Amino acid sequence: MSGARNGPAKAPAKSAAKSAAKSAARVGPGGPLRGTATMPGDKSVSHRALIVAALARGRSRVAGVNPGLDVAATVEALRALGVTVDAAGSAAEVVGGTLHEPADVIDCGNSGTTLRMLAGVCATIDGLSVLTGDDSLRRRPMGRVARPLRALGATVDGRAGGELAPLVVRGGPVTGAEVTVPVASAQVKSALLLAGLAASGTTAVRTPPSRDHTERLLAALGAPIEVGDGVVTLHHSFTPEPFELEVPGDPSAAAFFAVAAVLIPGSEVTIAGVGLNPTRLGWVDVLQRMGAAIEVVHEWERLGEPGGQLRAAAGPLTAVEVGAEQAPAVIDEVPVLALAATQAEGDTVFRGMAELRVKESDRIAAITSGLGALGAEIEAHDDHLVVHGPTPLRGGTADARGDHRIAMTLAVAGLIAQDEVKVEGWGSVETSFPGFLDTLVGLRGPGR
Ligand code: S3P
Repeated sequence: MSGARNGPAKAPAKSAAKSAAKSAARVGPGGPLRGTATMPGDKSVSHRALIVAALARGRSRVAGVNPGLDVAATVEALRALGVTVDAAGSAAEVVGGTLHEPADVIDCGNSGTTLRMLAGVCATIDGLSVLTGDDSLRRRPMGRVARPLRALGATVDGRAGGELAPLVVRGGPVTGAEVTVPVASAQVKSALLLAGLAASGTTAVRTPPSRDHTERLLAALGAPIEVGDGVVTLHHSFTPEPFELEVPGDPSAAAFFAVAAVLIPGSEVTIAGVGLNPTRLGWVDVLQRMGAAIEVVHEWERLGEPGGQLRAAAGPLTAVEVGAEQAPAVIDEVPVLALAATQAEGDTVFRGMAELRVKESDRIAAITSGLGALGAEIEAHDDHLVVHGPTPLRGGTADARGDHRIAMTLAVAGLIAQDEVKVEGWGSVETSFPGFLDTLVGLRGPGR
């Protein structure tokens, strides 16, 4: 198993990716987790840093790039678009300002962030770009990004009238406009802002709040960007200067170890060097409301991204209600929060979670069947989940459904179950956290 600090992975051949997705991991109960761990670089920030570096004119340096296949897909896509990316370990040097029409279809693998954000970039490149992905990505909604890009003057088509990838983008000059995006999607908002960097006039995106990494990075680089109440405005076109950034550790990855620490008696874990962007810490708020001992220690800021330490210790939990207004801030952590809720006193409700149905898997179904196979009592509804607790989990076999966040949730379930859990589809962790098990072993201590 490769370490957590491996650099941008090389996208494997399709057959290799498929057999990896079929592999299994076995995780059994053990003693407390103790000590300090670091996380791989934040996946969302890694994508953005590489893409914005590709738009800057000159050589940028990005360190701590996420080592998973999603970010590797962005690196390969940028190369296909004419950008030089020299990757060594977790560092990448990007020579931007040379984007051109790709010679072939661009395969974004499993990565919705790659496909949607690059749709915005391709809208501004003269020529034709075709963006596709794996079976999962080709099932996910793309009309949400195609429609507003058309409003900026781009020609975007795709299967099912532009609703599904492959997306076909005929790029060229785009014109700023005020566009409304009803869904809280940072990928779509970012696609529009990236297109807006090359648009004539003002680009304004009216949308509910979602993670704000793109806004922070562009503002730190001097872009004329303004974040208002429900609207982000890029006042005119802007070419970033090259920059250097060390990507913070991924707070979504930290959530798995924080939940494990909270659930396993005697545990005390520190996650160092982690990103503390408030739009990513909804899960900390939910666990704190459940009574968990989690501390956030701010230490630094890099190009607009705050970071520091997260500390978590074991303790009892009580059920809470997570409202629809909090959904965008916890959406990637609902699987592991649902696991925490199986051990809480009472019924935890996650409302307004329809977006979970269109992630890397249908996560409402995957959580219910995966944790259900281990004895959890979870009710799945169209757009919400009810988790009954506390319920002891037994060992057994559970399927990650090709979804990295489900796989890691099931591994944490193995730590607190009565017997070993076999996680099928373990290879999906390569998407964001190839070194997950190494990090876990590091916190468990030798031989456990
Ligand atoms: C991401 C945004 C979210 C999130 C995804 C990463 C990003 O998706 O679930 O894992 O980096 O912008 P949506 O934009 O679809 O909400």
